[in-house]
Amino acid sequence: PLPNAIFGKGRLNSAGVDLSDPLVRDPLMKQLAKLEAKAWTAAPTGGGSGKEVSVLSPFDTNVEVGKAIWANEADVDRMVRTAHAAQVAWDQLGGLARADCLDRTADLFEQHREELFSLCIREAGKSTIDAVLEVREAVDFLRFYASEARRQFTSPLQLPGPTGEQNELRLHGRGVFAAISPWNFPLAIFTGLVSAPLAAGNAVIAKPAGQTPLVASLAIKLMHQAGIPKEVVQLAPGSGSVVGGTLTAHPLIAGVVFTGSTETARMINRTLADRDGPIIPFIAETGGQNAMIVDSSALPEQVTRDVISSAFQSAGQRCSALRVLFVQDDVADSMLEMIAGAMKALTVGDPADLRTDVGPVIDEGARAALQAHLDDLKAKGRLLAEIELPASTGNGHFIKPSMYEISSLAELDREHFGPVLHVVRWKSGKLDKVIEAINATGYGLTLGLQSRIDTTRQYVEANARVGNLYVNRNQIGAVVESQPFGGEGLSGTGPKAGGPHYVARFATERVTCIDT
Ligand code: SER
Repeated sequence: PLPNAIFGKGRLNSAGVDLSDPLVRDPLMKQLAKLEAKAWTAAPTGGGSGKEVSVLSPFDTNVEVGKAIWANEADVDRMVRTAHAAQVAWDQLGGLARADCLDRTADLFEQHREELFSLCIREAGKSTIDAVLEVREAVDFLRFYASEARRQFTSPLQLPGPTGEQNELRLHGRGVFAAISPWNFPLAIFTGLVSAPLAAGNAVIAKPAGQTPLVASLAIKLMHQAGIPKEVVQLAPGSGSVVGGTLTAHPLIAGVVFTGSTETARMINRTLADRDGPIIPFIAETGGQNAMIVDSSALPEQVTRDVISSAFQSAGQRCSALRVLFVQDDVADSMLEMIAGAMKALTVGDPADLRTDVGPVIDEGARAALQAHLDDLKAKGRLLAEIELPASTGNGHFIKPSMYEISSLAELDREHFGPVLHVVRWKSGKLDKVIEAINATGYGLTLGLQSRIDTTRQYVEANARVGNLYVNRNQIGAVVESQPFGGEGLSGTGPKAGGPHYVARFATERVTCIDT
């Protein structure tokens, strides 16, 4: 585990859990085993009238983790209206009181961490270590956005001017935000997308991914327990078309924050353009076609370690994950042999087993799309390595972690969201062509660079249009506050999650001029 990090304002990031310490690990594993029998539920805040769905484990589809009641159009309309009526009081409570609520939520997340770990593992197929990291990140978002509420939402900014008037700028919540979140970080991103607009004084209707309503439901319950009124933050589980569609078209929605695919972001944008009501902000974090560039000065062991974690941790289901490895051709053969060797050491299987490195992908749709891509690569690419699936994975949504060489990045039509690594060789002296190819995808999320040459780093920094550049390390796991995360172009609108400009983007600015 990472050591505690102390940041500028003396705020501590969550300590997480030291899984290498048996005195911590063994009791935790016992508690997680006990929670395996627990059946969970999720329902729209205030009750729902949609259908009831079973939430099945991605590891074993014979196992029902819980049941969720979905919201229908009328439920969503009621939620938006009650949230709208409650929002002004929440805004007027002020930044300090809202920050206290978010800090209390963070404390409750830590007190209930075993349940949250268990849900991330069982409902989303996260490995145990990923589940621990997920809860840490959620706690970090809560505490960081609380500190941002204190910093920016307590007293007005004084703007003395040449006329002698007193000018004050205040930030206020805009109204009701729709927070539409993905299944790949069903707690961390969910919590980030909900807590930032709350910090800014908005009410929030939270739509979790259809695959992961249960952990979202527990998160919202803990927010209510922490003192955030039930009208101010509400859970709306359900389908993208009904809940997402009704929310984004609703005239009382004052903003939308979304993480998910670029296609869905476009759809939301179209709905927002056509709806009645005010023009509202849309904050989106979307896909990527993330590359890592390796040159001949890179350290092979380090490259191997960083490629393995960037491409295969979380079964490659991170927006930040490495998809295309560019290796300089004079070191490519030896480098690829080492990576293929390290892949052989990956354990694929039950996410609840601490030895597992790669768990399932989220659902049958994801598995089938990845399998079709692998079939395509078999014909078009050159197989460098693939890991066989053990028999224990037979009832789950598993895909063989694979590495294929392709001739150019342009061969990939889109992002393939899973444990599939593509390799492209590049010729010495042609770094500019590599950067051109990366920029030409239109995506701009993460980029890894493994090089010991300063001028190479400076060239990449100056020319790559990406949100997060990682040099001589892996390219996943951005740390809240010190590594603000998010991309540009097809990868999203910004601002960066966990960054200093994020919370203010959920606010409206009001200026008072007083003639003294
Ligand atoms: N924030 C995550 C990471 O950095 C990706 O969504 O890996």
